[in-house]
Amino acid sequence: MSFERARFELFNLARIAFRSAQYLFKKINPNYFPIGGGLNTGGGGTNRAEYCKNVWGTHIGAFNMFAAPKIPRRIAEFGPGNSIGTGLCALLCGADEYYAFDAFYYGNIAENITVLEELIKLYDNENFDQIKRREREREERADRLEKIKMVLNGEKGETIKIDYIATWENYAAPLPKVDFVFSQAVLEHIDNLENFYETQARILDRGGFCSHQIDFRSHGETFEWNGHYAISEKKWRRIRYVRPYSINREPLSTHVNLLKKSGFEIVYLRKTEGGKNAIKRDRLALKFRNLSDEDFMTSSALIVAKKL
Ligand SMILES: C[S@@+](CC[C@H](N)C(=O)[O-])C[C@H]1O[C@@H](n2cnc3c(N)ncnc32)[C@H](O)[C@@H]1O
Repeated sequence: MSFERARFELFNLARIAFRSAQYLFKKINPNYFPIGGGLNTGGGGTNRAEYCKNVWGTHIGAFNMFAAPKIPRRIAEFGPGNSIGTGLCALLCGADEYYAFDAFYYGNIAENITVLEELIKLYDNENFDQIKRREREREERADRLEKIKMVLNGEKGETIKIDYIATWENYAAPLPKVDFVFSQAVLEHIDNLENFYETQARILDRGGFCSHQIDFRSHGETFEWNGHYAISEKKWRRIRYVRPYSINREPLSTHVNLLKKSGFEIVYLRKTEGGKNAIKRDRLALKFRNLSDEDFMTSSALIVAKKL
């Protein structure tokens, strides 16, 4: 047994014990909210400004490449997590409206302001070729910074709008219309993907774009990156029971099919294949026996699509 594997198994034993205790608590009291969701609090990395800037860079890069060389005015992000830092990047760069659709409300004004201030430093330190352009952009951002801070502090903004829509799946008020939808490491967590893709089609105008980075790996549930495809439905239900949210185990083809079904054309698909620690096909659980080779091999994907 490799050192890596032994370390994983040791950690896993502790996790199973912790989870079993949570399972019992929840059986006794169904309203019990699992602490740490069974060792996975999962608000992602958006409390770090640099991470947010990189994520925003990926998705706005996709938009600029396939839609238009400008910043879309109205933007929706699904699952922003710990902070709305990626949305703050969008607003600093010129968007007017940002909508955060999540399953939980993580809103923390102090955290958002801290990330915003870190972001402004990162953007201002960027090396642009033309000094004039850099100065002009800096002035525009400084002006936006003040307006964004006002809105974050609860004041009504004239141009800037930030709305946290959580839980979006039970949202009674009409949803906003947007020009661009993006998500980072979120779609693998949404259980009702059909509903997600229909909602996305509803909020985007014709000609609007979406960009989604999806992680198909086991999220630490198994030593092998694709070991979750070997777990039976019964065991999987038990694992999920104590988590606020888990992974849906839907492969790439589900997303491709639902995008097409909801009226989108895929304009770009970048796939990554899984790493060295992987299960062989003969270990696949019954549910996944017919997984295509592409689905079996794909560990992450960036999908960019246009609403027809
Ligand atoms: C791994 S975190 C990623 C957060 C952030 N995008 C990042 O890159 O760090 C997953 C996010 O998906 C959200 N999420 C889980 N289920 C969801 C659902 N049904 N709809 C929208 N967001 C969901 C979680 O609340 C969390 O914010």
